[in-house]
Amino acid sequence: ASPENLRPRPPVVTVMGHVDHGKTTLLDSLRGADVAAGEAGGITQHIGAFTVQLSNGESVTFLDTPGHAAFSAMRARGANITDIVVLVVAAEDGVMAQTREVIKLAQETNVPIIVALNKIDKPEADIENSKRELLQMGLNLEEYGGDVQVIPISALKGTNLDLLAESVSTQATLMGLQSEYVGPVEGVVVESQTHSKRGKLSTAIVTRGTLRKGSILVSGLAHAKVRALFDHNGQPVEEATPGTPVEILGWRELPMAGDLILEVESDRKASSVLRYRQAESQKMKAEENIE
Ligand code: GTP
Ligand code: NA
Ligand code: MG
Repeated sequence: ASPENLRPRPPVVTVMGHVDHGKTTLLDSLRGADVAAGEAGGITQHIGAFTVQLSNGESVTFLDTPGHAAFSAMRARGANITDIVVLVVAAEDGVMAQTREVIKLAQETNVPIIVALNKIDKPEADIENSKRELLQMGLNLEEYGGDVQVIPISALKGTNLDLLAESVSTQATLMGLQSEYVGPVEGVVVESQTHSKRGKLSTAIVTRGTLRKGSILVSGLAHAKVRALFDHNGQPVEEATPGTPVEILGWRELPMAGDLILEVESDRKASSVLRYRQAESQKMKAEENIE
């Protein structure tokens, strides 16, 4: 990458933690929405992606993930494009099974963690005990000379969300995140679905380049000519730049969550890439059958 093409981009912050510890509520508070209340059974079942403008004017892209044990693959996919993990821990429960899983995942992938110690408005909240448990998990907490910040918050009441936002933005600045805004587009599929009226749609995060209408994309065995782009509010947009989530309309096949997206220069090139990938995947299937 030639340095003159590199420009700052928003951090991608993935919110993770044990089921019901308050991830969606936190994101709702940060963007003034009410997603948690509308979820079936109060359980998040997909990765939601949107950009929040902090009060200091900086943009941060947040990914919501489900805490339910069944969604471990989804958390692992989320971790793929994550710059920073906000680990939500309910102070009444402390460290639980998915809390441990997230800490391991972040440590394995070398992604910095900021702990949002949530539900401190509850009388059962035990901040000191939660911190002890985090320490036992090998997190180097700041107050013990490490670099992991623990911010006590109430997602529900909005307590200390400014401190959390500040911590995220300080960490992002420290990382000096930059991407190329020109050249072939690359991205990652965050989620993907066939919509009854709109057809095949994917949510993606662009990681380099600028995605525009007419771009030809391949992802796994899927192929798209971009017909329309939408932001996280469903509003049509002309382009999507690095670090921002975008909905892509125009897939011929449905791409898979977690797969890379690459822009190619022509339909012809897309067809040849896909023919090659199909042949490879058939070869692999044939080999599996032999074994
Ligand atoms: P999953 O997506 O299912 O893993 O859950 P989640 O982590 O997104 O939790 P969610 O935001 O759905 O919150 C679970 C419950 O905790 C809801 O009833 C929230 O209202 C409640 N809750 C979340 N944050 C707080 C808080 O700060 N204080 C209190 N008292 N309740 C909270
Ligand atoms: Na929940
Ligand atoms: Mg949730």
